[in-house]
Amino acid sequence: MANGKLDSKINILVVGGGGREHALCWKIAQSRFAGKIYCAPGNGGTAQDERITNVNLSSDDFAGLSEFASNNQVDFVVIGPDNPLADGIVDYMQARGLTVFGPKKEAAKLEWSKAHSKQFMLQHQIPTARFSVVTDFESAREFVRQNEWARVIKADGLALGKGVFVCNSESEAVEALTAIFKEGRFGDAGSTVVIEEKLIGEELSLLLLIDGKCVMPLSACQDHKRRFDGDKGPNTGGMGAYSPVRLFEKHKNEINALVIKPIEEALRNGSLEFRGILFAGILVGVPAANQSEQASDPSPFVLEFNARFGDPETQALMPRLKSDLLALLWAGANGTLDAERIEWLDQAAVCVVLSGEKYPESSSKGKEIEVGTLPPHSFLFHAGTKLLDGKLVTNGGRVLALTALGESIEQARENAYKAIKQVKFADMDCRSDIALREVGQCLST
Ligand code: AMP
Ligand code: GLY
Repeated sequence: MANGKLDSKINILVVGGGGREHALCWKIAQSRFAGKIYCAPGNGGTAQDERITNVNLSSDDFAGLSEFASNNQVDFVVIGPDNPLADGIVDYMQARGLTVFGPKKEAAKLEWSKAHSKQFMLQHQIPTARFSVVTDFESAREFVRQNEWARVIKADGLALGKGVFVCNSESEAVEALTAIFKEGRFGDAGSTVVIEEKLIGEELSLLLLIDGKCVMPLSACQDHKRRFDGDKGPNTGGMGAYSPVRLFEKHKNEINALVIKPIEEALRNGSLEFRGILFAGILVGVPAANQSEQASDPSPFVLEFNARFGDPETQALMPRLKSDLLALLWAGANGTLDAERIEWLDQAAVCVVLSGEKYPESSSKGKEIEVGTLPPHSFLFHAGTKLLDGKLVTNGGRVLALTALGESIEQARENAYKAIKQVKFADMDCRSDIALREVGQCLST
């Protein structure tokens, strides 16, 4: 491996079992450098793919995973989910001599502590909603009483996307504070709370591949977090995504100057040590209080950072990626990204998540899944599935993600919904309006 560049086959272990990990394994399998590919624990989709071997170890079993990697000549470990990163899996594995893609625990704090992440943005002048950090109910209640702008309440730690309350009134904000502080609904994640100004606008996901020095932005995506059409219903892990995004193209220069440049500078001056994917959730909009003022043009604000690939953003992105993913991830882990280029297909991708009807309240379990012949340029990534006596059955909240490519978002969207007709399970459901806003039609109200 001259100059840290891959020049021969390596064996890879991908940690995680969701749609994101299936999409990563699928793309890694296309690399000319891919030797054996293991996925722990994987899912029904990775089990069915002859290029991938599932390993029955959970992503929190650091000792088991490290031992497996050492005993099976694994050269490179790629971490998918947030929890093991927050618990220090990269530090643990590196201490045992493994080469790992992902940030160390302290770097992943940009995701696992919202208070830390806001302080980082403030320190580096990255635009973000005004905020205050509080650690007890009384001072939090007083803060929302005194500040009319303070209507977004966030539990500090990882809370599966459920610890954020976007409120419309002081009383709703106090209810949220009660749930966090008094009812302890988020356990330790809720011992500190970030109170923010409410912003109004449109969101996009920007994933940045970072090798400690260089920042390589991936193509922008848009996620659909709410469960039902028209952005109704509770927040979920994500019901669909698409890429590229016009909103990003329109605000590219500002996002580059206000978000990417300060991150590069922080890497350069040593105030950020990061290797892996830094995922910025960006809202292009205005503070709610300024909404009616003509003077305020929409501009980008970072809502949050994640320290990993997005799900389902990854399932939308991987079929568009022309470059060798394994070479890029290896360069990201080894500090050699400056020698790499990233290229994308001109085609657009639309990814629709298929869940059980009751998701997110409950998961689909044990329902047989039938998959017919998928049309060309469509890809089925598994998440909550498993093989039971040789049959594919449902086994989780988000069951599958179907991604289709097309010459435009409109075409990709049409292709995705056509391909979905080839997939069936008893309680299957999906949103019917993924990417509809991008093709210029209003979301149903
Ligand atoms: P987060 O986990 O911080 O990204 O928040 C989850 C979701 O809550 C975001 O995707 C937004 O839809 C919403 N949200 C978060 N912060 C704000 C804010 N300051 N103003 C309006 N909506 C927000
Ligand atoms: N789709 C949002 C996330 O992965 O957090």
